Amino acid sequence: MLRWSIFVSTSVLFGIGVLTDAQTKQNPGNTFVIEDISTNLGYLRDENILLGFVAVGDWAATRRHSWNLWAAMTAPSKSVWNGQRVPIWLTWYSVTEVYEPGPKPPKDRDLALYYHRPIQAILSNPEGKSPSSSLFAFVKYNRAAAEFVWQNKYHLRRTLDDLQARFDKDNRPIDERTIKPFPRQAIATKPVFWLVKNSKSPQSQRGLTVLPYWDPKYPAPAGGVTPDHRTWTKCVAIDPDRRYPEGSVQEVVHDGRKITAKVVYLDRFYSITLRDKVEVAAVKTMALQLSGSGGEQERMITDPNNVPEIGDAVILLAMHVTTKEIDNWTFQTYWWLPDANDPTFGYDRPSTVKGVWRNYVMCNAWSPESPRLPDGGYHVCFNPYLETDLGPTKPYVLDGKNMPADPMAGTRSNCMNCHNRAGYPAFSSAPGSANMGQVANDGFRPPNDPYFSKMTKTDLFWSIPLHAGK
Ligand code: HEC
Repeated sequence: MLRWSIFVSTSVLFGIGVLTDAQTKQNPGNTFVIEDISTNLGYLRDENILLGFVAVGDWAATRRHSWNLWAAMTAPSKSVWNGQRVPIWLTWYSVTEVYEPGPKPPKDRDLALYYHRPIQAILSNPEGKSPSSSLFAFVKYNRAAAEFVWQNKYHLRRTLDDLQARFDKDNRPIDERTIKPFPRQAIATKPVFWLVKNSKSPQSQRGLTVLPYWDPKYPAPAGGVTPDHRTWTKCVAIDPDRRYPEGSVQEVVHDGRKITAKVVYLDRFYSITLRDKVEVAAVKTMALQLSGSGGEQERMITDPNNVPEIGDAVILLAMHVTTKEIDNWTFQTYWWLPDANDPTFGYDRPSTVKGVWRNYVMCNAWSPESPRLPDGGYHVCFNPYLETDLGPTKPYVLDGKNMPADPMAGTRSNCMNCHNRAGYPAFSSAPGSANMGQVANDGFRPPNDPYFSKMTKTDLFWSIPLHAGK
């Protein structure tokens, strides 16, 4: 397989391994082997203990567990790529490796950053205007999650069709229409990246690349649009070559507007530098695929005129993580903020989290309801880089009912609530197909809810119905 598995789709067409020899010669020191996370930091915890935290409302304990999970996942693996130690989570199987044809488990693996447009955004914004296409996102499974999918052939659509047919034929009760539960060791992630221009590129802004960041106090944007990163008014200016004093204020352009932004250096982010033509081409190919999929202009980065070049860096902005330690999975999400010790999301990071990984803040959702908001509403947890743009911008029809536009819905969402809706078939015209509902937050949905009556539940995994293939 190839260094950037965006080539996997091409390599499937033209024969696997076209570039592998050249790659290996170029980088003889590279090793890339899937690795499990350490259990030294409290993972894998007994379900009764974790559910006990939820039962008594010990949210501090749930956060401690989510932080220690982050520490364990981001710890250095034994793999090295272009002289850089790979964090453990990055060694995991990409969704391409899990679902696309080829040997299972895949052979001759490579650093498989598979960037594809977050499907979630395409689906909720079918008109193709989703701003998330300017971010790169992909799903990764750890070994236990991937092997479970292969052993049960859940990567194949026909397995899911057979299950559906069997449940219909046997007239099974709604709550029993489900795939097998994943094993306790299963973990899945959805990382998000941003392109930082090398400072010599005329595409940079005097050496700087603008990165907007989320502030919960932003007012709803005018014009009924979603509050996505283009509408965010606060930005930092990333200075990969340290041309400016750190923290100095510089004038830059963001989404066509002149603004001022504080300078931050690249070492505030986990980053991978594009070293050669192969890597640049991979990211470019991805950009074309993104454009093609949404029928839109190339818009991978804040400035539509930016294209990847040698020397640019791809930085980690955000990451979703779920573990099957509890039946409904623990959900936690991490994202970058200039103030890593933010009083709401970053105040309690333990010293187990090391190095560059301390720049990310976190929220978690271990219940679709609790802890309640101050106004009594259900618990909210969303990642600004992945969910703020999910709200429907036009009126729509759901289960035969007319629903109003609700562009702010993503900022009230709860991970577990939406994932609990996952099933097969999804987002199809089949009656009773799984969908994201109001992208909102409607509390507990029992396993025998009529919503599930015509589908096969996929154990809260959305990527199964969305990626299962032939
Ligand atoms: C409105 C619906 C929605 C919300 C809210 C949501 N997700 Fe997802 N999530 C999805 C969809 C759809 C996918 C499949 C994306 C793909 O395959 O590219 C997904 C994929 C994932 C995956 C990969 C495993 C899987 O289920 O396929 C993880 C992990 C994940 N989300 C975690 C989270 C976390 C953590 C949150 C909350 C911070 C969250 N999600 C909020 C819809 C949602």
